[in-house]
Amino acid sequence: MKYNNILVTGGAGFIGSAFVRLLSKGLSLKGTVPEIIIVDKLTYAGDLERLEEVKGRFKFYKTDICSKNGVGSIFAKEKPDIVVHFAAESHVDRSINDATPFVETNIKGTQVLLDASRKHNIKKFILISTDEVYGEIVNGRFNENSPIKPNSPYAASKAAADLLVQAYIRTNKFPAVIIRPSNNYGPWQYPEKLIPLAILRILGEGKVPVYGRGLNVREWLYVDDCARGIMTIMRKGKIGQTYNLGSACESKNIDTVKLLLKTLGVSQDRFEFVKDRLGHDIRYSLNSRKVTRDLGWKPSIKLAQGLKLTVDWSLKRQAWLKSKLGDVNKLYKK
Ligand SMILES: NC(=O)c1ccc[n+]([C@@H]2O[C@H](COP(=O)([O-])OP(=O)(O)OC[C@H]3O[C@@H](n4cnc5c(N)ncnc54)[C@H](O)[C@@H]3O)[C@@H](O)[C@H]2O)c1
Repeated sequence: MKYNNILVTGGAGFIGSAFVRLLSKGLSLKGTVPEIIIVDKLTYAGDLERLEEVKGRFKFYKTDICSKNGVGSIFAKEKPDIVVHFAAESHVDRSINDATPFVETNIKGTQVLLDASRKHNIKKFILISTDEVYGEIVNGRFNENSPIKPNSPYAASKAAADLLVQAYIRTNKFPAVIIRPSNNYGPWQYPEKLIPLAILRILGEGKVPVYGRGLNVREWLYVDDCARGIMTIMRKGKIGQTYNLGSACESKNIDTVKLLLKTLGVSQDRFEFVKDRLGHDIRYSLNSRKVTRDLGWKPSIKLAQGLKLTVDWSLKRQAWLKSKLGDVNKLYKK
């Protein structure tokens, strides 16, 4: 399938921008660089600096995906063939403080995009969902048929969007594909999330906060591997299907932090246990055999290597990370 116009929501965010950088270099698309249209509200989490290196290679609309008129006029003008939908409120701790923007953007925003996409007969709609829709798992791994049982307000709002897309596929034969990635990390991640927050705290001579006793397990996927996986699924994924996208690199938070401290070359005791997150999921783990077997994608970066790349990037981009400090301190009441 040849794509001419690709509309990316949330393209100024962490994963969306990695995807746009990959797309705009025409990698994985055999040299053809499609027209890229980004729709992003530029919330606290959005930042066009992430797209500096590919400036001029995309069109940008500062628009809220919840705005039916705003989205409608962009679709009418740009006539996208494909929509890759990243835009979301993405941080669990913020959803515990206030679920309102999560319900608005993640549910209503998705519905607005679905209706505009139907009206304009787009060829493929890719929803970037999350492994958190499954809830937690103590033993074993979730596959794409595991029940959806989200626990945080963030995960519940993403699950609602995921189910809405499934309903459109079933009811309207809507040409959608759902992707459920595991925890991402890497360059340009907003430092409210564990790994960049830890780096920010160390750069500020502080200690890394670790929830509870640090026993929660996450499956860490390097962001460029994730972007390449999304590209693969965009090109080859079957309409109506759901694909898990995980790295199989599982690590307890305390082990991840200790590996990070080692990579940063600082003492192993530069962390502190803090009061646990409410309702904290103990473990996420994905069976990603479907995307590996059927579509040939494989993650290429293991956790130690990915942390090294992230630390090297962070040392070069300290000013960017530190520019978010005031907001992050407000969130964690420092
Ligand atoms: N980060 C992860 O580890 C992870 C893992 C699995 C799935 N996901 C999903 O991947 C997607 C991208 O995650 P991320 O980490 O890049 O998020 P992010 O918070 O870094 O970026 C979100 C982007 O969406 C934009 N946005 C927010 N509300 C909007 C609205 N109403 N209208 C238009 N734009 C809006 C923001 O400005 C920002 O650019 C999300 O859907 C998230 O749920 C993330």
